[in-house]
Amino acid sequence: MELSTKHMEVFNSFFLVYIEVIIFLSCFNLLGLATGSPVVGGNDTDHQALLQFKAKITGYQLEVMESWNSSIHFCQWRGVTCGRKHRRVTKLELKHLKLSGSLSPYVGNMSFLRELKLQGNRFYSKIPQEIGRLRRPQILDLTNNSISGEIPSNLSACSKLIVVYMGGNQLAGEIPALLGHLSQVKFLSFRNNDLRGSIPPSFGNLSSLEELRLEFNGLTGIIPEALGRLTNLSYFMVVENAISGIFPMAMFNLSNIIAIDIGANKIQGTLHFDLAVTMPNVEFFSIWGNQISGQIPIAVWNASSLNTLQLNNNRLTGNVPSLEKLDKLIVLELHANALGRGREGDLKFFCTLVNNTKLLDLFVGVNNFGGALPKCISNFSSTLLHLSIYKNKISGRILDRIGNLINLELLDASENQLSGPIPFDIGRHQKLQRFYIDRNFLSGTIPDSIGNLTMLTAVNLAFNNLQGSIPSSLGHCQNLLAMSLSHNNLSGPIPPQAFELPFLSIFLDLKSNYLTGVLEQ
Ligand SMILES: *[C@@H]1O[C@H](CO)[C@@H](O)[C@H](O)[C@H]1NC(C)=O
Ligand SMILES: *[C@@H]1O[C@H](CO)[C@@H](O)[C@H](O)[C@H]1NC(C)=O
Ligand SMILES: *[C@@H]1O[C@H](CO)[C@@H](O)[C@H](O)[C@H]1NC(C)=O
Ligand SMILES: *[C@@H]1O[C@H](CO)[C@@H](O)[C@H](O)[C@H]1NC(C)=O
Ligand SMILES: *[C@@H]1O[C@H](CO)[C@@H](O)[C@H](O)[C@H]1NC(C)=O
Ligand SMILES: *[C@@H]1O[C@H](CO)[C@@H](O)[C@H](O)[C@H]1NC(C)=O
Ligand SMILES: *[C@@H]1O[C@H](CO)[C@@H](O)[C@H](O)[C@H]1NC(C)=O
Ligand SMILES: *[C@@H]1O[C@H](CO)[C@@H](O)[C@H](O)[C@H]1NC(C)=O
Ligand SMILES: *[C@@H]1O[C@H](CO)[C@@H](O)[C@H](O)[C@H]1NC(C)=O
Ligand SMILES: *[C@@H]1O[C@H](CO)[C@@H](O)[C@H](O)[C@H]1NC(C)=O
Ligand SMILES: *[C@@H]1O[C@H](CO)[C@@H](O)[C@H](O)[C@H]1NC(C)=O
Ligand SMILES: *[C@@H]1O[C@H](CO)[C@@H](O)[C@H](O)[C@H]1NC(C)=O
Repeated sequence: MELSTKHMEVFNSFFLVYIEVIIFLSCFNLLGLATGSPVVGGNDTDHQALLQFKAKITGYQLEVMESWNSSIHFCQWRGVTCGRKHRRVTKLELKHLKLSGSLSPYVGNMSFLRELKLQGNRFYSKIPQEIGRLRRPQILDLTNNSISGEIPSNLSACSKLIVVYMGGNQLAGEIPALLGHLSQVKFLSFRNNDLRGSIPPSFGNLSSLEELRLEFNGLTGIIPEALGRLTNLSYFMVVENAISGIFPMAMFNLSNIIAIDIGANKIQGTLHFDLAVTMPNVEFFSIWGNQISGQIPIAVWNASSLNTLQLNNNRLTGNVPSLEKLDKLIVLELHANALGRGREGDLKFFCTLVNNTKLLDLFVGVNNFGGALPKCISNFSSTLLHLSIYKNKISGRILDRIGNLINLELLDASENQLSGPIPFDIGRHQKLQRFYIDRNFLSGTIPDSIGNLTMLTAVNLAFNNLQGSIPSSLGHCQNLLAMSLSHNNLSGPIPPQAFELPFLSIFLDLKSNYLTGVLEQ
C-alpha cells in the first residue's frame, strides 16, 4: 500500500512538471518570443509570411517589390503597414501592380492583419483556406485577379470582416453556406466569377449587409425568402445568372433598397403593388429578361428617386401608369412585353414625362401599344437620345410630332401603322445616326433634306409606299453603312452620288422598286 502511494506521488510530480513545461512553452508562443523552432504569433512570423508571400510572386513585376529587402525593416516595405507599438503587419496593400503569382498560405500567419488589398493584379490559383486563421481582418479585396478554385469556407471564421470583394476572378463551385456567419459584413461581392449553386439561405443571417453583388455568374436556385430580413440591404445585384422561382415579396419590403438588378434570370412572379411606398429610395430597378407578369404597379408613381427603370423582356400586361413624378428618370425600357391594349390612349403615359429633363432612353417597342403618338411628345425635353416604338400598332403621322427632339440619335418606328409622308423637317434631326421606319404605310417622296443627316449610319425605309426618285442629296451622308429602300414604289434613275458613299459597303437593298440605271459596283 505504502509503495503504491509513493508511486502515485512520483507519477503526479512528473505529470505537474510536464504540464508546467507545456504552459512555459505556450507562454513563449503567446509572447512571440523566439524559441528556435518557428513560433506562431511573433513579428518574425510576419517577416517570414511576407518573405513567403514575395517568394510566390513571379515575373518582371518583381521590381515592384524591390523595397522588400533586408536593408530596411519589413514595416517599411512597399504596401506594408504595421501597428506602431507591436510592429505587426496590420495592412498589406498592393493594388493595380500587375503582380502575378499564387497566394501564399503563410498570409494566414499575419495574425494582426486587418486589411488585405490586392485588387487589380494577376494573382492566380486558389485562395488558401489558411486565410481563415486570421481573426482581425475587416477588409479583404481581391477584385480583378485570376483567382480560381472555390471560395474558402474557412473565411467564415474571419468574423470581423466588413468588406469582402472577390469580383472579377474565376472562382468556381458553390458559395459556402458558412459565410452566413459573417455577421459584420456590409459589402459582399463575388460578381463576375464562375460560381454555381444557389444563394445560400444563410445569407438571411448577414444582418449588416448593405451590398450583395453576385452578377455574372452561373447561379441557379431561388432567391431565398430569408433575404427579406436584411433591412439594411441597399444593393441587390444578381443580373446574368440562371436564378429561377418567385421573387420574394418580402424583398419589396426592404425600405433601404437603392438598386435592385435581377435582370437576365428566370425569375417569375409579379411586381408588388406597393412598390414605391415600400422602397422609397430606389434609384435603379431592373428586372429585364425574366418571366415577371401582371401589371406595372400604379405606385411606381411615387418612386421619385428612380433614374433607371428596366422592365423589358418580361410578360407584363395592362396600361403603363403615370410617370409624372419620376423626374430623375434617365432610362425607361419597357420593350418586349405585352403592354397596351392596342388602342387609342395607350401611350398617354408619354405625356406624363413632358417635364422630365433627364430622359435619354425611351424604349417601348414590341408591345401592344395602339393609337397615335400623342401630340405632347413635341414638348419632350430635347435631351432624348434614343426613341424606339418598334413593332407596335401605332398609327398616325409620327414625324410631325418629334420636331423638338433635335438630339435624337436613334429613331426606331419600324413595324407600326404609321402613315403620311416623311416631312421635310427630318433634316433638322442632325444628330440622327439610325433611322428605321420600315414596314409602315408611309407615302410621298423621300425629302431632299435627308441629305442634311450627315451622321446617319443606317437607314431603313423598306416596305412602305414611298414614291418618286432617290434624292441625290443622300450623297452627303458620308457615314452611311447600311441602307434599305426596298419594297416601295420608287422610280427613276439611281443617282450615282448615292453610290459614291465611301463606306456604304455593308448593306444596300433597293429591290422591289421601279428604279432604272446601272449599278457599277
Ligand atoms: C521583433 O520585435 C522585437 C522587440 O519588439 C524587436 O527587437 C525586433 O527587432 C523585431 N523583429 C523584427 C524582425 O521586426
Ligand atoms: C532595398 O530597398 C530600398 C528602399 O526601397 C532601396 O533603396 C534599395 O535599393 C533596395 N536594395 C536592394 C538591394 O534592392
Ligand atoms: C505559417 O504558415 C505556414 C503555412 O500555412 C506554416 O507552414 C508555418 O509553419 C506557419 N508558421 C510560421 C511561424 O511561419
Ligand atoms: C475591375 O474591373 C472592372 C472591369 O474592367 C472595372 O470596371 C472595375 O473598376 C475594376 N475594379 C477594381 C477594383 O479594380
Ligand atoms: C479550416 O477550418 C477548419 C475548421 O475550423 C479547421 O479544422 C482547419 O484546420 C482549417 N484549415 C486551415 C487550412 O486552416
Ligand atoms: C441563422 O442564424 C440563426 C441563429 O444563429 C441560426 O439558428 C440559423 O440556423 C441560421 N440560418 C441559416 C439559414 O443559416
Ligand atoms: C443598419 O444601419 C443602421 C444605420 O446605418 C445602423 O445603425 C444599424 O446598426 C444597421 N443594422 C445592422 C443590423 O447592422
Ligand atoms: C412588409 O412589411 C409590412 C409591415 O412592415 C408587413 O405587414 C408585411 O407582412 C410585410 N410583407 C412581406 C411580404 O413581408
Ligand atoms: C404615394 O405616396 C403617398 C404617401 O405615401 C400615398 O398617400 C399615395 O397613395 C401614393 N400614391 C400612389 C399612386 O401609390
Ligand atoms: C409640367 O409642369 C407644368 C408647369 O410646372 C405643370 O403645369 C404640369 O402639370 C406638369 N405636367 C406634368 C405631366 O408633370
Ligand atoms: C406644349 O407646351 C406648351 C407650353 O408649355 C403648351 O402650351 C402646349 O399646350 C403643350 N403642348 C402639348 C401638346 O402638350
Ligand atoms: C439643315 O441643317 C442646317 C444646319 O446645318 C439647318 O439650318 C437646316 O434647317 C437644315 N435643313 C433642313 C431641311 O432641316
